[in-house]
Amino acid sequence: MANHIAIFDTTLRDGEQSPGISLNMHEKLEIARQLENLGVDVIEAGFPISSKGDFEAVRAVAREVRKPVIAALARAVKKDIDRAWEALHEAARPRIHTFIATSDIHMKYKLRMEPEEVIKRAVEAVSYAKSLGSQVEFSPEDGSRTRPEFLYMILEEVIKAGADVINIPDTVGYSTPDEFGAIIRGIRENVKGIDNVVISVHCHNDLGMAVANSLAAVANGAGQVECTINGLGERAGNAALEEVVMALRTRRDYYQFDTGIVTEQIYRTSTLVTSLTGVLIQPNKAIVGANAFAHESGIHQHGMLANRQTYEIMTPESIGLKKSQMILGKHSGRHAFEERLAELGYSDLTQEEINEAFEKFKDLADKKKYVMDSDIEALMSTKLVQIPEALQLEYFHTTSGNSLISSSTVRISREGELIEEAACGDGPVDAIFHAIERATGLEIKLVDYQIRAITSGKDALGEGIVKIEKNGRKYVGRGISTDIIEASAKAYINAINKMLYDITEFPNGKQDNIEVV
Ligand code: KIV
Ligand code: ZN
Repeated sequence: MANHIAIFDTTLRDGEQSPGISLNMHEKLEIARQLENLGVDVIEAGFPISSKGDFEAVRAVAREVRKPVIAALARAVKKDIDRAWEALHEAARPRIHTFIATSDIHMKYKLRMEPEEVIKRAVEAVSYAKSLGSQVEFSPEDGSRTRPEFLYMILEEVIKAGADVINIPDTVGYSTPDEFGAIIRGIRENVKGIDNVVISVHCHNDLGMAVANSLAAVANGAGQVECTINGLGERAGNAALEEVVMALRTRRDYYQFDTGIVTEQIYRTSTLVTSLTGVLIQPNKAIVGANAFAHESGIHQHGMLANRQTYEIMTPESIGLKKSQMILGKHSGRHAFEERLAELGYSDLTQEEINEAFEKFKDLADKKKYVMDSDIEALMSTKLVQIPEALQLEYFHTTSGNSLISSSTVRISREGELIEEAACGDGPVDAIFHAIERATGLEIKLVDYQIRAITSGKDALGEGIVKIEKNGRKYVGRGISTDIIEASAKAYINAINKMLYDITEFPNGKQDNIEVV
């Protein structure tokens, strides 16, 4: 398809390298399933040699998610490629993505290798990966700062060795749109065999130009864009998938390219990634920020009422934001609830899951007069990822006020056993966290805590997000309730459950932090 731009999502690999993010295998699988619904062409599921957890996640995604190509990252060394292939080989369409740095500064100071040796390693890696029967993508790391003649030479050699895709990274987010577009044009004009492969780009956002650089590359012949949901990624992140895709769609008149993305799934995907990573989005973030479609000023509102196109270049519905919110209440029956679930896209639930959701809905309707679509979406998102819940909050009580010391009592069940504990704290959240810590007997390091309203109104649902750390690994927990203390306690327990699960799955640690090769 001549005007198709392939979307390569690297949320699970580069996105997961964002500071503080750590997703377990179930969470990665959940995101991968949603990326498939979103219609991405390629999912980069991880970097298998980097940890056992990453290896397992790539393998699970390769086995289960069948429509997109599944890619795994490997340095240009045999042991990385073997490990990537071991994780990937059951995929319907596996792709090994191998890379080596090619800029003078990286070759000299990081790799300590001569350029000839770098070419040799790249060629060996590509031909070895190809011999395994995989699609092969090659990235010259720090490509945008690589001497053009050297870049052309190494690309020509890896194409001869069998690469299917050559990916040009702006690893440190240094390039500008004109410059990056010219790099892609230069490659097209100077590299023999380039017409037989796909040119891909991978832009970081250190100067806020990742999306602009990616689009400049598309205008100059790139056929694949690497990006992440919400722009997650190393340091300032990667090009945001939703921005690249909506720019191509909204300005189709200018770019004249299509993607296979089901844009109506963008909002749901973004929300899922926010929930599971605990990385909140700034309100004015393009496309998926809370204010992206909000019109505050009188002049704008007046214009919108006269004709939406005065100030709206794309509709909220096009990214899956519902305009009219259906309202349910405590008198709504199971049938109406089930129908609404299906309309919201939850059509593949089992009877047991529907029963469970209906119970939660009834509980919420008792506390809240109107239950909106956003409340239902929030309720459904709490059960997204099933990990064993070793600990469950059975009961809690807190007292607080401006003239007394806050205290809390909790009852927690731990594999059938009920444990009760009480503690004081500097405010009710601190008190309940201390009480939970006592009840579990665990020493827990809290590294981050946030609370926010995720639906509207005074009786909005509150979402607590808690990050804890153990043995250098971070765990994000999430809890929702109309009561913010309960939301916080649930989030804390959710994070502890993830930690306990991780320790059982990987008793000897996850062997993160591989050495540079
Ligand atoms: O930013 C980068 O250079 C990368 C490569 C591994 C493609 O992530
Ligand atoms: Zn990157």
